[in-house]
Amino acid sequence: MVDALRRALPEAGRTEPLVRRSDRADFQANGALALAKQHGRNPRELGAAVAAAIEAPGLISSAEVSGPGFINLDLTSEAIWAQVAARTDSDLLGLGLPLAGKRIIVDYSGPNVAKEMHVGHLRTTIIGDALARLAEALGATMIRQNHLGDWGTQFGMLIQYLNEHPEAEWHHADDADPTANVAALDRLYKQARNVFDADPDFADRARARVVALQSGDEDTRKVWRDLVEVSAEAFDAMYERLGVSLTAADLAGESTYNHLLDNVVEELVAAGIAVESEGALCVFFDDITGPDGNPVPLLLRKADGGYGYAATDLAAIRYRIRDLKADQILYVVDARQALHFKQVFATARRAGWLTDEVEAVHVPFGTVLGPDGKPFKTRSGGTVRLMSLLDEAIAKASEVIGEKNSDADPADLAALAAATGIGAVKYADLSNNRIKDYAFDTDRMVSLTGDTGVYLQYAHTRLASILRMAGKTNGTVDTAAPMSREERALALHLDAYGTNLAESMTEREPHRLCGYLYMLARTFTRFYEANPVLKAETDEIRKNRLGLVRLTRDTLAHGLNLLGIAAPERM
Ligand code: ARG
Repeated sequence: MVDALRRALPEAGRTEPLVRRSDRADFQANGALALAKQHGRNPRELGAAVAAAIEAPGLISSAEVSGPGFINLDLTSEAIWAQVAARTDSDLLGLGLPLAGKRIIVDYSGPNVAKEMHVGHLRTTIIGDALARLAEALGATMIRQNHLGDWGTQFGMLIQYLNEHPEAEWHHADDADPTANVAALDRLYKQARNVFDADPDFADRARARVVALQSGDEDTRKVWRDLVEVSAEAFDAMYERLGVSLTAADLAGESTYNHLLDNVVEELVAAGIAVESEGALCVFFDDITGPDGNPVPLLLRKADGGYGYAATDLAAIRYRIRDLKADQILYVVDARQALHFKQVFATARRAGWLTDEVEAVHVPFGTVLGPDGKPFKTRSGGTVRLMSLLDEAIAKASEVIGEKNSDADPADLAALAAATGIGAVKYADLSNNRIKDYAFDTDRMVSLTGDTGVYLQYAHTRLASILRMAGKTNGTVDTAAPMSREERALALHLDAYGTNLAESMTEREPHRLCGYLYMLARTFTRFYEANPVLKAETDEIRKNRLGLVRLTRDTLAHGLNLLGIAAPERM
């Protein structure tokens, strides 16, 4: 196409002809329109000249100008079958590895020690994991970083309270369920907070405990380590249940950077970037303002000498660039922290840590709302625990699945309900435009029809069942076979998978991949309704259709895996 464009209009050089999938033909090229304008030519005439200049025997069966100068392109069925064959034969579905050699850090999940994971942690955990899997599939070297909130003055308060209340049960509240330990801690933390606010003597003792913690007092540290360990166990249990790929090796909590804070801040002071202001140490910006339009400084060190969240993130970004040698750092964090990241990145840039060779990006997301579209709260007005949300989704999925499999083994059914319930939650989250809020509606998300995870999983089982029934096939695709309209639509959609993955990653938008997979399932259904596979008219046609079924199954399974969703064989 580029060559045809140049033959028709030499001034065009190597301009991209902008070829896209189209309803009117297999593809449509729109590039001639803008080019004609630029070079003072009649767009339709230029389009016709380009169409006539196309020389691609065996690839393009027709090239015609349409409308004001679009070029409609149809491919030969041989070329499309050959593409199907090549991709069926390849382990990686013929995907390229555009991110090979890149080191990408995804900072996600980041729950807080001694607090239960709640609905607010759902999106960072699920979206972050999908992006990490996607980057990995595109060839990147992935570094997952779980920036646990494991440091701060609140731990002094909690440890002091635990010390004074040895009867408080938390350590082994329930051995079978590590999340119960953290639930207990969460309650104790709230009690500690109440006492702190009501009793000035306790507040003083709690402050002394903070000093003890920071200065490394061994007894205090021991309790703190215990809190971190018990919490990490609970988070692990949650990741396991959610099918999230974070492991203990990815833990890099705030405390990891404690030993770097003095040095980082000194460096910023020496460079004149951090300055003193009313006893505190801050970074000021000319161009970063808060919601009220006034400039907001970044607070590095409080007047009492304590470092905060910002200093830690500055140490982390320097470490990630200098030591972990990141090419790209994605922070999958709530949209409400946008200002914080803007300031952290601007500071890191001024300090020379963040250069043009490195991309640091805040990947924000919207809020999960209650089923009624209002802020998500429990009936008593509390925060919704993540575990109870998952339990609810699994129970709903179990009803839906149970109806279809009344004679299934209960253990199989339970495993399937977990896979579909979790898949439903993840898909509902990922398929929504990342930046928008969405309502958490369990009834809708477990539906077998419509744009749901369950629908895609079910489509996968249908594909798997066709392949089981087909038995052993030699798998070759005959490129000389005829091609129906539906075969063509399916094959072309399958061919766009790699492009979709690359786009989903560049835009950091897993919902694009969801949309692709949903369309894949629908395009497959249309194909299957009109084109018998196992009972195809000839052996040759059967072979080719089975090739399409296999490629569809593999693509769907691959895509679901990137979303972190199970692809069951039966349901
Ligand atoms: N623990 C933080 C929170 O709950 C999230 C951490 C995000 N990552 C980061 N590098 N700041 O808000």
